[in-house]
Amino acid sequence: MIPPTCRDRVIAPSLLAADFSKIREETSRAIHAGADWMHLDVMDGHFVDNISFGPAVVQAVHETNDIFLDVHLMITRPDHYLPRFVAAGADLMTVHVEADHDVAETLRRIREAGCKAGLALNPATPAEAALPYLEQIDLLLCMTVVPGFGGQAFMGEVLPKIETVARWREERGLSYHIEVDGGIDAATAGLCAKAGANVMVAGSSTFRAPDMAAAVKAIRDA
Ligand code: DX5
Ligand code: ZN
Repeated sequence: MIPPTCRDRVIAPSLLAADFSKIREETSRAIHAGADWMHLDVMDGHFVDNISFGPAVVQAVHETNDIFLDVHLMITRPDHYLPRFVAAGADLMTVHVEADHDVAETLRRIREAGCKAGLALNPATPAEAALPYLEQIDLLLCMTVVPGFGGQAFMGEVLPKIETVARWREERGLSYHIEVDGGIDAATAGLCAKAGANVMVAGSSTFRAPDMAAAVKAIRDA
């Protein structure tokens, strides 16, 4: 498979909205519905006020399905845990700039491990927080909700930040993907794409849709 460029639309259903009692089938359902990547939300109960799953579940998805794994680490110490997610089969690991670690060093180690490196910004974090790291990343995630839970309402105030980081990418001749996560459906995906985002994470609007393939297509066409 040819890896997508930052001009290609990527749809990444979030496993957080799936039925956890049948993870293998739910991942297969997303693949058959047209998903490009699977988005895996790791939450530690400290960095965010929720606990989801860890490396064992990432490994279960990796071993039972063949899809690119986009692992979003909402954890306080991504530097400490990253080797376990590498071993579990992560293809891309996104860490938060707000977490308690040496961001440049963590990003360097992710790439050194052979994974793609992503950096995430919470809605309240200014774009400038990502500036020192732009050359070290394959993806910049602009959170469109306060992370922690699925099913929250999209925050339109994040759109100017997406425009800013897309402009910086052009000005600097860089090629990082711009990902959005939280409250993404066919309507909000269109707004994000217009602002410059290409990777659309969608939990509730895909896994909980009556027709998942139609939902994925609607986000792709938005
Ligand atoms: C939010 C997570 C998201 C979440 C999105 O903390 O990072 O990936 O699963 O869920 P929806 O699409 O339902 O807003
Ligand atoms: Zn996420």
